[in-house]
Amino acid sequence: MDFESIPLHFGDRPAISPDYEFSTLIPWGTPINSSGPAFSWPVTSSADQEAQIGIGHDGMWFFAENGSSDSGWLCINHEFGRTTHVLDKPVPETVEDVRIMQAAHGNSVVKIGRDQRGVWEVVDDAANRRITVNTPVTFSGPAAGSALLENPAGNAPAGTLNNCANGYTPWGTYLTCEENFNGYFGSTGGWTASAEQARYGFTNAGFGYAWHGFDPRFDLASADYVNEANRFGWIVEYDPRDPDTPPVKRTALGRAKHEGCALTIGRGGRAVAYMGDDQRFDYIYKFVSDRNHRSMLARGMSPLDHGVLYAARFDEDGTGHWVELSLNNPAVAAGFSSEDEVLVNARIAADLAGATPMDRPEWTTVAPDGTVYCTLTNNTQRTEPNPANPQAPNPNGHIIRWTDSDRHVGTSFEWDIFVFADDTVGTGHDFGSADGLWADPSGRLFIQTDGAQPTGANDQMLVASSATGEIRRLFGGVEGCEITGIAVTPDQRTMFINVQHPGNGDSAVTRFPDFDPSLPPRDSTVVITRKDGGVVGS
Ligand code: FEO
Ligand code: CA
Ligand code: CA
Repeated sequence: MDFESIPLHFGDRPAISPDYEFSTLIPWGTPINSSGPAFSWPVTSSADQEAQIGIGHDGMWFFAENGSSDSGWLCINHEFGRTTHVLDKPVPETVEDVRIMQAAHGNSVVKIGRDQRGVWEVVDDAANRRITVNTPVTFSGPAAGSALLENPAGNAPAGTLNNCANGYTPWGTYLTCEENFNGYFGSTGGWTASAEQARYGFTNAGFGYAWHGFDPRFDLASADYVNEANRFGWIVEYDPRDPDTPPVKRTALGRAKHEGCALTIGRGGRAVAYMGDDQRFDYIYKFVSDRNHRSMLARGMSPLDHGVLYAARFDEDGTGHWVELSLNNPAVAAGFSSEDEVLVNARIAADLAGATPMDRPEWTTVAPDGTVYCTLTNNTQRTEPNPANPQAPNPNGHIIRWTDSDRHVGTSFEWDIFVFADDTVGTGHDFGSADGLWADPSGRLFIQTDGAQPTGANDQMLVASSATGEIRRLFGGVEGCEITGIAVTPDQRTMFINVQHPGNGDSAVTRFPDFDPSLPPRDSTVVITRKDGGVVGS
């Protein structure tokens, strides 16, 4: 790292290191093709919103066109938007209002490239598309075809929800992860949560989206859609370049409030995925494919359909163990009789298997030396510490790391804590509630925050050296936002990050990025480059 760190940042506009510059790209409402409808607010047409970039910019990845660092496809998650922010009303009043909200969620795929001045812009392309809560999807893996994923209504699987962080595979696909899906369901009456539904946090009111009053798919009381809730909470894979194949929900990776999915290749060419489940006292998961990913793909099999799912147990002596979540594990078999039940209720399987309850596991990333890092964002409700989560309560969080045996495919690991956020307070690189995390090929860790900073400053992106632990602040967001999502071009000279929920959607706080009195604040991607054209983070 050789850039000037910026001070704690406040106010309604972003700030970046003087060695860097930034511009904004694809704010919420940008047409995904040039013939599309221009943004107007409040949004009054679901057809318009379906032809525009969604809201709640979160995880994303850049898929280069023939290795180019000037042209490629950006896949981006649209985690959530407040109803007031999108519709300018507290709750939907019609089915069309619900359809607008559903169209604002999901994913966007857009081709982007540099124009003649070198500025990144959207490029018209046949692959540009929206994936929303109503887009056809399919299920694959051991739980596909399970009765637990079928409804009496016979409705085909559709949609992805609350897409938080992400992953990407060496075979060129994008992984989008469904996090707080429970909040979109509610009950019109006469429903009580099963033990399984309670474990995933379903309630009568949900998070207040009130879709269930207009769309029975989201009504927990509807006998016709009794298993709709089981259709969310998955890792979803699609090929950005292939708009004709529906996204696939990979059931072998289990159902949880999936934050992200960091995929690496382990011993024997096996695909290994690390995943956080962001809830207080929930778990870190790992999936290992059965065989070499190349030979599986050559035989038409997905490496993400056949393998073993584990959850992490952190022991006091600095070692840990991946506990298997299948009927092969007697502790899991004591509670379940079939593999699909285990995967649909992966959290409960991990409870039975004795995984370690963590302080809200968010993003995971695999550094070039094989060390895996995971942000544990915070846990204000912890009263009993455990070795891996020693602070009770833990309002500012920490970052844990481990090294797996047998080049990622083994069931034991060694772990330690990379940094406690509390230890940064007063150092100048103060941060709390780390969330987004990405290790570059040189071992720099990009750390993004989401939540009340210990100093009251805006959320931010910092860069840490995994070798020395030194931390510098590269970017400061706007008031009321979180900073999330990381994508880079192959040459690492352009980085894309996101300002999510600027001003929490309140125009009185900020009107980023337009600063136009007729427009609300808009979630937006931010393009970061070094002024001298160097690698971002250096
Ligand atoms: Fe969507 Fe856990 O952040
Ligand atoms: Ca997050
Ligand atoms: Ca978060």
